[in-house]
Amino acid sequence: TDAVAFTGPHQAGIVTPAQDRLHFVAFDVVTKDRERLVRTLREWTAAAARMTAGLDAGEIGAVDGMPEAPPDDTGEAIGLPASALTLTVGFGPTLFRDATGKDRFGIAGKLPAALEPLPRFTGDTLDEAISGGDIAIQACANDPQVAVHAIRNLARIGMGTVSVRWSQLGFGRTSSTATGQATPRNLFGFKDGTRNLKAEQEDLLREHLWVPDGDGPDWMTGGSYLVTRKIRMLIETWDRSSLAEQEAIVGRHKGTGAPLGAAGEFDEPDLTAVGADGTDLIPATAHVRLAHPDTNNGARMLRRGYNFVDGSDGLGRLDAGLFFIAFQRDPRTGFVPVQRSLAASDEMNEYVRHVSSGLFACPPGVTGGGWWGDRLF
Ligand code: HEM
Repeated sequence: TDAVAFTGPHQAGIVTPAQDRLHFVAFDVVTKDRERLVRTLREWTAAAARMTAGLDAGEIGAVDGMPEAPPDDTGEAIGLPASALTLTVGFGPTLFRDATGKDRFGIAGKLPAALEPLPRFTGDTLDEAISGGDIAIQACANDPQVAVHAIRNLARIGMGTVSVRWSQLGFGRTSSTATGQATPRNLFGFKDGTRNLKAEQEDLLREHLWVPDGDGPDWMTGGSYLVTRKIRMLIETWDRSSLAEQEAIVGRHKGTGAPLGAAGEFDEPDLTAVGADGTDLIPATAHVRLAHPDTNNGARMLRRGYNFVDGSDGLGRLDAGLFFIAFQRDPRTGFVPVQRSLAASDEMNEYVRHVSSGLFACPPGVTGGGWWGDRLF
C-alpha cells in the first residue's frame, strides 16, 4: 500500500520523502482544562493512526453510523488510498505560558530553551493573525483531498478544546528529502532542495535534525524543532528581471541547478571561486552563499517547504510564494543564524516578504499505546 507508518522513534513527515501536497494548521487551545486537552490529544492520535493507514477518522465511519447522529468521519476521502499521508504534531511556546507568563497546563517547567521565540528579523512584515499558535499539525499527502480531509477531521474532533488560528494549503513540494527524489522547483523557477539534508545522511541527521538525549527536557529526545515562514514572492517583479540577474541572486544556474561556476546540480558550490574579472562567481549577496553552512557556523536544517498560490490579490498580482518549513535540532543554531544572514544581505529580499512565522517543538514518534504529547503531560 502507499501508507506511511504512523508509529516509530521519530514522527513521520520529517524525513519521509516529501509528498506533493500540504495542509498545515495551527490551533489555539481554548480550554483551560488540562484533562480535556489530554483527551483531545489522545483522540487525535487514534484518528491520525487510522487516517494515515487510509481508514476513516472514526471506527464507525462516514456512512455506517446512526442516521440521527453526525458521522465520525466527514466522508470526502471514501475510496481514496492513504496517499502517503503523514500527520506531524508540534507544540508552540504559547502552550506552556500565556502572554502574562502564567503556566497554562502545568507544563511550563518542561518548556525547552530551544523554543525561545524567534527574534524579529530585518524586513519582517509578519501578520500575527496567521503566525504562531499553541499546537500545529502538518498534513502531507500525495492527494490534496486526503490532506484536507485529515485536518478537517482533526479540527472537528478538537471542537471546544481548540480553535483553528490559521491554516495554509501548499501544492508542489519545494524540497527533496531523500536522495532518490528528483529536485523540484519553486515559483521563481529554480530547483530547490539540492543541498538539503536528506534521509540517507544519518550522521548529519543525528547532528543537525534530531534532538539528542541531554539536549533540553527528556520529552523532546528524538524530536525536532519546526520553523514555518510564509514567504510571499513578488512574482511579477521577479518575472521582469533578467535571467543573469536571477541566477546571480540565487547563485545557481536556473536550468541545471548547478552552482555558478560549476556544471552539475550536485557539484559543491565553490564560495572562493573568482571569475576572469576578479569578482566572486557566487556573489556576496547570493542566496546560496548566505545560506551555506560555511557562512553560518555550520548551521544546517531539513527544509520541507511547499509552493502556495492563494489566488490573486486586489491588484491582479498572484498571492503566491513559498510556505517555508524547516526541521532542526535547535533553531537557535539552525534557522536563526541563517535567516539573520539572509535578512541582512540577500539580494532575494527585494522579491520576497515574510508574512507569517511559526515555531513548534515536535516530540518524538508515538510508540506502543502512546499518544501525542504523552511524555509532556
Ligand atoms: C538553498 C530558494 C528562503 C535556507 C536554496 C536554493 C534555492 C532557494 C533555489 C538552492 C538549491 C538548494 O540547495 O536547495 C529559496 C527561496 C526562498 C528561500 C525562493 C524564499 C522564498 C530560505 C529561507 C531559508 C533558506 C527563509 C532559511 C532561513 C536555505 C538553505 C539552502 C538554501 C540552508 C542551502 C544552502 C547550501 O547549503 O548550499 N534556497 N530559499 N532559504 N536555502 Fe533557500
